[in-house]
Amino acid sequence: MKLSGKVAIVTGAGRNIGEEVSRMLAAEGASVAVVDLDEARAEKVAADIVAAGGKAQAFICDVANEDDIRATVNGVADALGGVDILVNNVAMSDNKHIFDITTEEWNRTIAITLTAPFLFGKHAAKAMAEGGNGGRIINVSSTSGYYGRDRAIAYTAAKGGVVNLTRSMAIQLAPHNIRVNSVVPNKIGSPVGKDNFDPTRPVSNLRGRPGVPADLAKAILFLASDESDFISGTDLFVDGGVSAMMPGSK
Ligand SMILES: NC(=O)c1ccc[n+]([C@@H]2O[C@H](COP(=O)([O-])OP(=O)(O)OC[C@H]3O[C@@H](n4cnc5c(N)ncnc54)[C@H](O)[C@@H]3O)[C@@H](O)[C@H]2O)c1
Repeated sequence: MKLSGKVAIVTGAGRNIGEEVSRMLAAEGASVAVVDLDEARAEKVAADIVAAGGKAQAFICDVANEDDIRATVNGVADALGGVDILVNNVAMSDNKHIFDITTEEWNRTIAITLTAPFLFGKHAAKAMAEGGNGGRIINVSSTSGYYGRDRAIAYTAAKGGVVNLTRSMAIQLAPHNIRVNSVVPNKIGSPVGKDNFDPTRPVSNLRGRPGVPADLAKAILFLASDESDFISGTDLFVDGGVSAMMPGSK
């Protein structure tokens, strides 16, 4: 087992990518804090992990609220015995054109997609530093952080921010033996904010299929484990190769 004795926080863990990441980290021996705003989803994911012989506990938290984030990190450290791994997975998409998005929609999208990874990173890293054993933080970015989109404006801005937040966090937390990296997915499971996975979802990538949550979870497991000990401040593309393609190529 690659994560025996480790405590991992996974945000937005109630479904799709966060759910699979929680299961995979638990299967490798981690005690997993399943963090979500949706209580029923978080409780079900944690219960499924426990039923499968793993260790997990649901934590209900609105990541748009710093007091909630601070209380969640402290609650995890108390209940599970410190914090070793943070997976900043939560996000929401505005799916809006610049002419249509309201300031409130912009602010909420930025709060959940960019500010929450910063605040969870800040409070979890303090707990890691106090624990004295270092840590690993994995920020879930997106190909939308590298390219513009016609149907999202705040989400693409926020994900671009996550990419460079990762680099500064990696530099600032290195003295505490905390490695920080990002993963960069494209079209994995159900679309952000949706429940249903459509395996016929049209994709144009080098693998000829949409990604499944396990594709990304395996990359996150690698970055959370000792196998990636010499890797910090980098972005690992898990996008079926789509970012390597010239626009219009087949
Ligand atoms: N699904 C994709 O195709 C895809 C592609 C690129 C990037 N990503 C990124 O991967 C990550 C996971 O995406 P997903 O599709 O699994 O997301 P999702 O929308 O399926 O799940 C997000 C979870 O976060 C929870 N959540 C929402 N707002 C919250 C809040 N304020 N506080 C706490 N929890 C909250 C939801 O209840 C839900 O369980 C995101 O960072 C997303 O941007 C996904």
